[in-house]
Amino acid sequence: MTRLSVNVNKVALLRNTRNLNLPSVLRAAALCVEAGAHGITVHPRPDQRHIRPADVDELSEMLSVEFNIEGNPFSPPAGSYPGFMPIVRRVKPTQCTLVPDAPGQVTSDHGWNLRGDTRKLKDIIKELRDMNIRVSLFMDPVCEQIHQAAELGTNRVELYTEPYARAFNLGQVEASLAEYARAAQCAQEAGLGVNAGHDLSLKNLGKFVEIPGILEVSIGHALIAEALEMGLAATVKAYLKILAAH
Ligand code: PXP
Repeated sequence: MTRLSVNVNKVALLRNTRNLNLPSVLRAAALCVEAGAHGITVHPRPDQRHIRPADVDELSEMLSVEFNIEGNPFSPPAGSYPGFMPIVRRVKPTQCTLVPDAPGQVTSDHGWNLRGDTRKLKDIIKELRDMNIRVSLFMDPVCEQIHQAAELGTNRVELYTEPYARAFNLGQVEASLAEYARAAQCAQEAGLGVNAGHDLSLKNLGKFVEIPGILEVSIGHALIAEALEMGLAATVKAYLKILAAH
């Protein structure tokens, strides 16, 4: 069964609008885990608009399930943000998903372009793996790029699924699904595990996990929005039901 990692960024985003620790990121994560989520994901960014370094520390202490920290390994310190890699080195999560997002970017909107000089990224992947942290690279569904990712020594790739979600909404899902299925197969043939994420929702997830062998989906924005109507525990259970059916 594909595993569900719930991204709790949007809980932190709401919390940060006041100084009341409401809603609590820890409580939300605990509710997700109680409801059966296999993991929790956070994406600390230099502008600290949602998850802050202290959240990462507190979640790490609390969680007994998989903890996935995603972000740009080259994001430098900024104010009280110590930089991405110092956070990861301190916390040593189960998985680190490396994302090429610029500081202040609204959300991740493309995978790595590995055509240029990748020596620094390769060193970071090695450092993470030496700490026993599983490494996943956020990638577009492009086989040539995925082969490059394998050469850098990553354990997994996370396929960037926003184009799939858009195609789903436009009624063009089959062509997009075929493209992602090919990319997943390329990754699997190169010995990589396959995760997926971005704009997945209760509506479009079932179709996506028809692709064989997707190991994990990380889902935040839609899940938190759906939880406003359905409640957090019920929403997580609804996702798990979809995943269990495949
Ligand atoms: N994967 C990565 C690398 C992301 O940056 C995000 C957004 O933080 C997600 C998955 C989850 O996307 P969404 O919030 O659209 O579910």
